[in-house]
Amino acid sequence: MSENTGGRVAQETIELTENKRISDGYFRLRARCGAHYASAGAGQFVTLRLLDQTEPLLRRPFSIHQVSIGSNGIPEIEILYRVVGGFTSKLSRQPAGSRLDLLGPLGHGFTVSAHTRPAAVVGGGIGVAPLVFLVWQLKLAGMDPDLITVFLGGQSKSDILCKDRFEHMGVWTKTATEDGSLDFHGLVTTPLETWLKTAAPAMIYACGPHGMLMAVGKIARSANIACELSIETLMACGLGVCMGCAIQTSENSEGYQHVCKHGPVFEAAALT
Ligand SMILES: Cc1cc2nc3c(=O)[nH]c(=O)nc-3n(C[C@H](O)[C@H](O)[C@H](O)COP(=O)(O)OP(=O)(O)OC[C@H]3O[C@@H](n4cnc5c(N)ncnc54)[C@H](O)[C@@H]3O)c2cc1C
Ligand code: FES
Repeated sequence: MSENTGGRVAQETIELTENKRISDGYFRLRARCGAHYASAGAGQFVTLRLLDQTEPLLRRPFSIHQVSIGSNGIPEIEILYRVVGGFTSKLSRQPAGSRLDLLGPLGHGFTVSAHTRPAAVVGGGIGVAPLVFLVWQLKLAGMDPDLITVFLGGQSKSDILCKDRFEHMGVWTKTATEDGSLDFHGLVTTPLETWLKTAAPAMIYACGPHGMLMAVGKIARSANIACELSIETLMACGLGVCMGCAIQTSENSEGYQHVCKHGPVFEAAALT
């Protein structure tokens, strides 16, 4: 996992420039943010709070979906989110112009490098959120997009997100749905395993549901391929203070690490 943080973390008030439904239950918001986001890394996250609302009490974590620099030189952050409960439901009803409290960038992200061998990028459902920024940063680092294959999996075709954005970046995409409503009928790990029969990738990156991540980690380990997984846990402080996000890893002698501080991206070998 990369040491791509260490940059400034700041709390600020942002104003939504857009908050749009992009698929059933999925939204994408956009807002101008602090200049320090220009050095944010793919896989890092932010926490959000609705201003003037006491409920929910805790800030909520979201991956950085994209950071782009506007013509005025001001960075703009995008967050892709799924409506699952109280916070995300309220967030989805905020019109452009609403103000939010943003804290970040937080955590350690993916290792971004100009791999000269192929890379697989595997996203399950909303797990695709940090992967658009990852592919964009791999390209920026000088990686040939022709060497990048993005595997997108979901329950149904409405859970396959951002295919157009990946295609626009010139990378290969392969999709799988569990109900067969789009492309391969089954789990996303099946097209990944088929691809691995002929590709010799330098790295597999993945973000998605726990079961998918463990399966991808196992595939990578058995094929002896470097693999980084972005994992989710419930979080309270998001800053490494409350210990609410501790997970067992083999990366340190104490046997556990904090997802918000040491992750959310971990080497698969430390988790599986
Ligand atoms: C590092 C990190 C990055 C994340 N990035 C994104 C993202 O880019 N887009 C996105 O839509 N979501 C992301 N999440 C998950 C997001 O934080 C939760 O969906 C959100 O906090 C739910 O808040 P809520 O009040 O709407 O739902 P709640 O009412 O709090 O919860 C609704 C349901 O979702 C479950 N849930 C809540 N938080 C999490 C969590 N962190 N992990 C797993 N299950 C959870 C609860 O157990 C419950 O079943 C991320 C989480 C982490 C830890
Ligand atoms: S959420 Fe508090 S230590 Fe990670």
